[in-house]
Amino acid sequence: MDTHAPSSRIGGFHKFDVAQRIASVAQFARLDEADQALLQNTGNLPAELADHLIENFIGTMNIPVGIATNMKIDGQDRLIPMATEESSVVAAVCNAARQCYDSGGFTTSMSGTEMIAQIQLTHVTDPQHARLQILEKKDTIRELCNACDPILVKLGGGFRDLEVRVLETRGGTMVVTHLIVDTRDAMGANAVNTMAERIAPRIAEWTQGKSNLRILSNLADRRLARARCTWRLADIGGAEVRDAMLAAYHFAEADPYRAATHNKGIMNGISAVVMATGNDTRAVEAGAHAYAARSGRYSSLSTWEVTAQGDLAGSIEIPMAVGLVGGATKLHPSAKVALKVLGVNTAEALARTIAAVGLAQNFSAMKALATTGIQKGHMALHAQNIAMMAGAVGEEIDALARILVAQGAVRQDVAEAELQKLRAG
Ligand code: MEV
Repeated sequence: MDTHAPSSRIGGFHKFDVAQRIASVAQFARLDEADQALLQNTGNLPAELADHLIENFIGTMNIPVGIATNMKIDGQDRLIPMATEESSVVAAVCNAARQCYDSGGFTTSMSGTEMIAQIQLTHVTDPQHARLQILEKKDTIRELCNACDPILVKLGGGFRDLEVRVLETRGGTMVVTHLIVDTRDAMGANAVNTMAERIAPRIAEWTQGKSNLRILSNLADRRLARARCTWRLADIGGAEVRDAMLAAYHFAEADPYRAATHNKGIMNGISAVVMATGNDTRAVEAGAHAYAARSGRYSSLSTWEVTAQGDLAGSIEIPMAVGLVGGATKLHPSAKVALKVLGVNTAEALARTIAAVGLAQNFSAMKALATTGIQKGHMALHAQNIAMMAGAVGEEIDALARILVAQGAVRQDVAEAELQKLRAG
């Protein structure tokens, strides 16, 4: 063991100011002046604000924001800000949207804005009895929940319903209460978690059980965003392309190995908008994948069919717990601008827009995969990354990227050699 190895036991790190934290990390990791200066540059997120968003803040991680053009949603043109580090994601949405713009774009809807909070009860001797005891208290539960958040109630939200499930588990029988709460324009995690914590001791008291977890469920299946769109045969390149895309969908529908990648593509679009608007990407991702497995077998989040006219019809239905109020959405300057660009005034409108983006992304991925393959589109931007990694600057980047693509060898060793040749003239 290296006795001189620096220690990660740094007492009071959270009480340091940002400069002290950076100095402390610099000492630990032997960061030079340039590294430290980089951490100090927090871009468009003020350090004072970031320091309140998370613990032990030392710097920011900038992700490019691109705009997806051509989107028409429910008859309205929208520009979509997308935060992603992955090349081709923004272009994919632009392309899919261009190919359905003239035929009307996307139609969206939403099942509601209700979230579920779960209260776990263990050590219940008579679970069926307990279940009914809890259901009998619905009015009291409603009052207690609504008293937690009078502002939400004033805005038309609040407690909506109660479900009680008896669950057989490896650890014995449990009684699980679901509080169903309309959280309106909030993502709602704070609202429903507060309610669950308030109600849990009462439930334990009524049933003589022991309350344990009190937390929202990310399987937000009462907050489903829906989008559908028809791509005309003539706009997508004919029946052969359509049928190859359908075969791609049938593959994803039947096979979890393929479905995971198919859905990853959908989430490329969805998470990029969720991120750009300061919402919780992990919440949406967890909900999406759990929903994709709701039948007991993980499958595609989208469905694809052929219309009576022979056109390609895509649909998506996906849990979408995003909000406009609370958290980073209201505080992060970039998120605020992203919401202005989107022009959405409600969480529902945001959720519906995001579902449309997911469907657009899926269309383009399937089309590329079922025709030319994904690498052709990917390589142009990837070649620029490789060119930069090889040391190209300014105009060299595009020039070198073009050479790499033309050679069909987008590799760093080739890039380094070609850069030398380029510089030698
Ligand atoms: C890459 O990030 C996403 C894709 O793999 C999605 C798909 O395979 O459908 C292209």
